[in-house]
Amino acid sequence: MKIISDKGIPNAAQCLRAGGLVAFPTETVYGLGANATDERAVAKIFAAKERPTFDPLIVHIYDISQLDLLFKAPIDPMVYALANHFWPGPLTIVHAKTEAVPHLVSAGLETVGVRMPDHPIALQLLALADCPVAAPSANKFGQLSPTHHMHVAKQNMPVDYIIETKTELRVGIESTVVAVNNNECTILRPGFITKQAIENCIPNAKVNILQKNTHINAPGLLDSHYSPSKPLYFVENESKFADHCGLILHDSNVSALEANHIVYTSQNADMIEVATNLFSALHSMEDNAEVKEIYIQKIEEKGIGIAIMDRLKKATFKYQK
Ligand code: TXA
Ligand code: MG
Repeated sequence: MKIISDKGIPNAAQCLRAGGLVAFPTETVYGLGANATDERAVAKIFAAKERPTFDPLIVHIYDISQLDLLFKAPIDPMVYALANHFWPGPLTIVHAKTEAVPHLVSAGLETVGVRMPDHPIALQLLALADCPVAAPSANKFGQLSPTHHMHVAKQNMPVDYIIETKTELRVGIESTVVAVNNNECTILRPGFITKQAIENCIPNAKVNILQKNTHINAPGLLDSHYSPSKPLYFVENESKFADHCGLILHDSNVSALEANHIVYTSQNADMIEVATNLFSALHSMEDNAEVKEIYIQKIEEKGIGIAIMDRLKKATFKYQK
């Protein structure tokens, strides 16, 4: 495993072409990438993440013309409406796939999810590799998503390169995932791009939010996911916390809460800031040896707050009291 700066992108691109694994920043979270058309390379992702093979991977591209290789013709016009409006950006579009996409990428489904990430390093890497790149978040299965190269490095996965970045990832939570079919658009995973934004983009289509208990097996839809290695609870009625508790807050104005270890995602509950800093805050509590239990404030389930609370409900699920 080698941590490299952006100067090493050509080497990393070459490594992807040769069937290697590269962890790279996107605007959402770090991805663990492999050449999506090389089944052996894709198999290394599942091994590195210890990820069950029923979970489909998202394929990353740098140019809309690459869709012809991945999406089966005729490509739904809604795909282009959404892609032209939101790409590069945190929207994954799920559509019927071609034979070029190995079954391992789509977890046996007849569809594949594709997105164009909005990060200069990701776009340069994808352009130089010149192949579609399958990349889930660069963390072991079920654990916290990484938003910094050190979050990736600490997982000790067998990765060839990790590309570092000097700045925070802009979005900080995973992309919104939508499936399009016959003038209907279904949100499979909430994210930074809201239902309202999608409705504004395709006003003539019906936009639904996937209800639970459907046949689609996807990790973003499991009840428990994205968990830190220490118990994580929502703040309920507590006001004072034991010495070994870490507290994650989203607003410094309203809090009368007392704890030894406090991390703020935002000073004034700015949803975009909360999303950007959410996983970093959780990682910092995970890495702090004095913290044995983590408590986190809830946030209003409106706009991006829906995606933030989706991640937090999953992260707290297995620790419910
Ligand atoms: O922001 C992101 O989307 C990040 C960065 C690296 O791009 N990637 C990411 O990948 O979050 P991952 O593997 O952690 O999540 C993939 C999710 C699955 O949980 C599933 O919900 C959905 O994408 N997905 C992918 N392909 C699908 C398909 N064919 N049908 C339904 N859902 C799919
Ligand atoms: Mg993930």
